[in-house]
Amino acid sequence: MADTLTPLTFRCLRRLSDGAFLSGEQLARSLAVSRTSIWKALHGLEQYGIEVLRLQGRGYRLVAPIDWLDAVQIRRHLGVHAEAYDVRAVDSVESTNTALLEQAVAGARGGLVLAAELQTRGRGRRGRAWHTGLGGALTFSVLWRFELGAGSLAGLGLAVGVALVRALHSLGVDEAMLKWPNDVLVRYQKLAGTLVEIQGDVLGPSLAVVGIGINFRLDDFTRSRIDQAVTDLVAAGAPRDRNRVLGRVLAHLAEVLQAFSAQGFGPLRKEWESYHVYAARPVTLRLPDGGQEEGTVAGVSDDGALLLQTSAGLRRFHSGEVSLWAAGDDQRRRSVS
Ligand code: BTN
Repeated sequence: MADTLTPLTFRCLRRLSDGAFLSGEQLARSLAVSRTSIWKALHGLEQYGIEVLRLQGRGYRLVAPIDWLDAVQIRRHLGVHAEAYDVRAVDSVESTNTALLEQAVAGARGGLVLAAELQTRGRGRRGRAWHTGLGGALTFSVLWRFELGAGSLAGLGLAVGVALVRALHSLGVDEAMLKWPNDVLVRYQKLAGTLVEIQGDVLGPSLAVVGIGINFRLDDFTRSRIDQAVTDLVAAGAPRDRNRVLGRVLAHLAEVLQAFSAQGFGPLRKEWESYHVYAARPVTLRLPDGGQEEGTVAGVSDDGALLLQTSAGLRRFHSGEVSLWAAGDDQRRRSVS
């Protein structure tokens, strides 16, 4: 698979956005390139989740039109939170988290948002890859600066989950729930994931790059690359306007990040627990060292640890160290790992 798409491919796809046929000749003329260049630019896009129909005598057509990201549209949906952000939308980047971490080191201001149509090396938690097709997801990161020390940001990942669920509920995705530490599930299938990366001094200041990936419309190729049960916003009945969804998520995120800066995760803890898909359920935790723990979910702590009532008493587990499955249910065990 080629590492990324060329700018010409993006220009062709934008011309084809509305789903109507355009001939190779028309595309070539309007973009001042040869018909062969157009053919090359629109060839082999299935691996990016794009299906281009090519019919003799009619030309090219997108099977599923793309709803492009647009920073102006996104800003419109931020409401009173517009001033909190500087939103940028790009065609392609390795990883929005990686790019913002680099920009943070170079002194970028808090509130910078980078959203990408395509990530070529999207990163998930615990070193995993995060696969999404072009236009089939919302993949974006937010740089946020804190006066707090880096050690005080332990519950931030969970706070971000609260913002996501609030936004999804407000968009009609009523069944959105959380799985510790910060997966968003609908009917036990993964809809979204977050990757929060923190840098800074123990005593402050510090910064976080909050990366969020939300499946929007999963294509078959992308689905085949994901090794767990997944769902997307279209299946969950959300609005089909990606800019609106992104704007709403950012608005709720600004509220939560401001509250977190002032008071940490504590005041959000009960709300987080009310969204937890495994609240008060017996679970098995699989530890990174290959071991496992069984117990009943007793909640989460103010620093984001999972509280598990085990036969040896109440134990705490920290973000990123464990996986969580519902105990004694092999079907679900496969579906939520
Ligand atoms: C996970 O569930 O493992 C976390 C997935 C986080 C994916 C998002 S997409 C935007 C941002 N950029 C990345 O490379 N990763 C995060």
